[in-house]
Amino acid sequence: ARIVALISGSGSNLQALIDAAEMGAINGEIVAVISNNPDVQGLERADKAGIPSLVVDHRKFDDRQAFEAELSKSINHYSPDLIVLAGFMRILNSEFVQPYEGKMLNIHPSLLPKYKGLHTHRRALENGDKEHGVSVHFVTAELDGGPVIAQRKVKVEDSDTEESLQSKVRQKEHQLYPEVVAWFCSKRLQYKNGKALFDGQT
Ligand code: GRF
Repeated sequence: ARIVALISGSGSNLQALIDAAEMGAINGEIVAVISNNPDVQGLERADKAGIPSLVVDHRKFDDRQAFEAELSKSINHYSPDLIVLAGFMRILNSEFVQPYEGKMLNIHPSLLPKYKGLHTHRRALENGDKEHGVSVHFVTAELDGGPVIAQRKVKVEDSDTEESLQSKVRQKEHQLYPEVVAWFCSKRLQYKNGKALFDGQT
């Protein structure tokens, strides 16, 4: 499968995917990395791995629509079978998302449907949650609202801070995302009628 990754920052999830693909754990290839921010570590990671990368800087467009039009063009140029959002921090309109429904994944640092949006670790702590975690889901027009494919949990200890919780969750992210991408690329995972289906479920 041809995979295009969208990033905004450090790209540690991108790195986990690059490593998994290089090890042969994913039946696919990351053919391009697109960032909406210039000068981020994720772009260096792409470079190091010999993956073409480009920047589509949202600040350079008049509005979201113009930004998304350019983003679509850049993605489509690589004819991907799968698009992975890996710490991509722009909200996407439904017109943008719609053509990619069923072939775009996102990773979100909470046990969805809890804590859509930002500051998930802080919110889990504030609510006194005993467990927290990460979800991978298909992207739909609803922010962090598409069908959940898989989750990994972490225990929240009394001593946990936002930072410690983030780092625990991050470790789970780096395990889970390559697994889910591998399932998708080997066609064990599909999207049908708004649902995530495994192993030929109907
Ligand atoms: C991750 O926590 C991811 O779940 C969230 O943004 C963060 C990106 O981190 N959507 P990185 O850029 O992959 O290091």
